[in-house]
Amino acid sequence: MAQLWGGRFTKETDQLVYNFNASISFDQKFYAQDMRGSIAHVKMLAKQGILTEDERDQIIAGIEGILSDVEQGVLEISDKYEDIHSFVEATLVDRIGEPGKKLHTGRSRNDQVALDMKLYTRDEIQVLDGLLKELLEVLLHIMEENTETFMPGFTHLQKAQPITLAHHMGAYFEMFRRDRSKLYDIYQRMNYCPLGSGALAGTTYPLDREYTAELLGFAGPTLNSMDSVADRDYVIELMSALSTIMMHLSRFSEEVIIWNSNEYQFVDIDDAYSTGSSIMPQKKNPDIAELVRGKTGRVYGALMSILTTMKGIPLAYNKDMQEDKELAFDAIDTAKGCLALFTGMLRTMKFRKENMENSAKNGFTNATDAADYLVNHGVAFRDAHGIVGRLVLYCLEKDIALDDMTLEEFKAISPVFEADIYEAISMETCVNKRMTIGAPGKEAMEKVIAIYAKYLQECEKTLA
Ligand code: ARG
Repeated sequence: MAQLWGGRFTKETDQLVYNFNASISFDQKFYAQDMRGSIAHVKMLAKQGILTEDERDQIIAGIEGILSDVEQGVLEISDKYEDIHSFVEATLVDRIGEPGKKLHTGRSRNDQVALDMKLYTRDEIQVLDGLLKELLEVLLHIMEENTETFMPGFTHLQKAQPITLAHHMGAYFEMFRRDRSKLYDIYQRMNYCPLGSGALAGTTYPLDREYTAELLGFAGPTLNSMDSVADRDYVIELMSALSTIMMHLSRFSEEVIIWNSNEYQFVDIDDAYSTGSSIMPQKKNPDIAELVRGKTGRVYGALMSILTTMKGIPLAYNKDMQEDKELAFDAIDTAKGCLALFTGMLRTMKFRKENMENSAKNGFTNATDAADYLVNHGVAFRDAHGIVGRLVLYCLEKDIALDDMTLEEFKAISPVFEADIYEAISMETCVNKRMTIGAPGKEAMEKVIAIYAKYLQECEKTLA
């Protein structure tokens, strides 16, 4: 047991209590952020004359040594320390002696951990943003190639109207673009530095909080020291954004699983992204998509947990808040892993375009267009709806598509039909007549693709 405190205690901490309380097993994850924060703190202390320049230089050299030793695996973060903060400080004192004891001047672990968690989540938001951008690039690529790949659009998982693969991918482009903009918003809102808030009431040292904030790339210092050490809103917001990302990935995974099924055969998942069965030799399973769908639950769990943990905590810092870490770390790692794998799976997935188009044709997705044809020839929509209903029934009995009917067969049900009906209900016409912005028609789609390409190029609203 190695603790930073103990002066006012007359007994050793019970081992079980120590274990229960310690956080080093997980908060070592932000060792780099912890040391980055300490270096900024020390620079500020020296600038304010609270430390000498010599002390500053010794401490910084000491911390940099610890950081590089940890990174190179020469120094192990030992669990004999209570938390990462204690580990760094104790190792520093071991290595450089007296000046090391001044590192924690004008600081509490409360503002320190608040800073570490912010630095860590801020770094991870950038990684997540990069992963989302890669996914968007793959989506855009598929869109560009498939403005004329016809497929059924579904409602109630029943074939509804024809769309294109580009249009379907565009729906996901919108979702993940919104997710990026959420991350951007969270980043802006959280980007204020809590360091200098002390335990809860600031400190009596003449700290320059603006300076530390600037050194660490924050927009400025936080404005209330109690809120600074008690705020985990940004963790909640991030868990919420990650939950939405996972929900989007999960819906997409569900579609990939359906499309990959023997019944649909719309896609072929690459061998590198599929797995086999130990007993059934013919199987090639979409495990990655299933796992992404499955892992959504643990990210939602993190959101619920942190919300629940925070709800009864009086101001300011309470130890409950230590619970934010494992949850957040797991959710962040899960979301990163899922994004990376999903993107890889999508990039290598083959679309079986013929099957998609045949499915659209054989599913009466052009029935609405057949009704519209009649309306354009003077039939009231309700009557047209009834006529096409009878056409569908006829085709179902004969097991054919609308396009397969002869003109005589059409005319037998309504004399309004002429030879141009075939053109009117071809997949191409059905899709390309839908040319208002946001619709699947090629013209509209190309406009949207240009907007997306520009968005990715400019990377508008980049985080850093
Ligand atoms: N391990 C603690 C946490 O994660 C660090 C802050 C400790 N502060 C304290 N007053 N015990 O929240």
